Amino acid sequence: MHKNYVIDEMISAKSIAARVEALAKDISEHFAGTDKLVVVGLLRGSFIFIADLVRELDLPVEVDFLEASSYGNSTESSREVRILKDLRGEIEGRDVLVVEDIVDTGHTLHHVLHLLEARNPARLMTCALLDKPSRRETGVKADYIGFEIPDEFVVGYGIDYAQRNRNLPYIGSVRFTS
Ligand code: IMP
Repeated sequence: MHKNYVIDEMISAKSIAARVEALAKDISEHFAGTDKLVVVGLLRGSFIFIADLVRELDLPVEVDFLEASSYGNSTESSREVRILKDLRGEIEGRDVLVVEDIVDTGHTLHHVLHLLEARNPARLMTCALLDKPSRRETGVKADYIGFEIPDEFVVGYGIDYAQRNRNLPYIGSVRFTS
């Protein structure tokens, strides 16, 4: 079932760390003074990114997780997104930062934002480690973006191919050899 592939390093661990630090600085400045920020990680791909990001934030934060899964034919223009695991906490009146690994077509983020907006947070912002703008099928754009990347399939730093390679410390591009 697994095709043969090699992984070419695209973004080094060092570059990721520097970018995460810069993002955290911008986010800390934006939310300065808040005592009610909830950082929401979208499982599973954001787990390493959110762990590094919250440790660089100069703010009191709570951390919560939400798991969404897309299904159906990915070539369809409107993909459905299911919520597999909802937040544990309430977000009404709270400042919320949604953290995603990659914004690809944008359907996941679009759906999650729609869901969370209905719960009346005070502020709702988004941060994605990677953005593939050429793949977008929705109008959604993250407020904070780590790196814009071309339309390549990537793994590492929490991101998987068939559940593998999440533990790579860098972002690599998958090249199929058969
Ligand atoms: P979207 O709904 O199309 O924006 O999909 C976002 C989700 O698809 C991401 O959170 C990832 O889990 C997954 N995804 C998109 N591109 C890649 C990739 O290059 N490698 C691994 N997973 C990806």
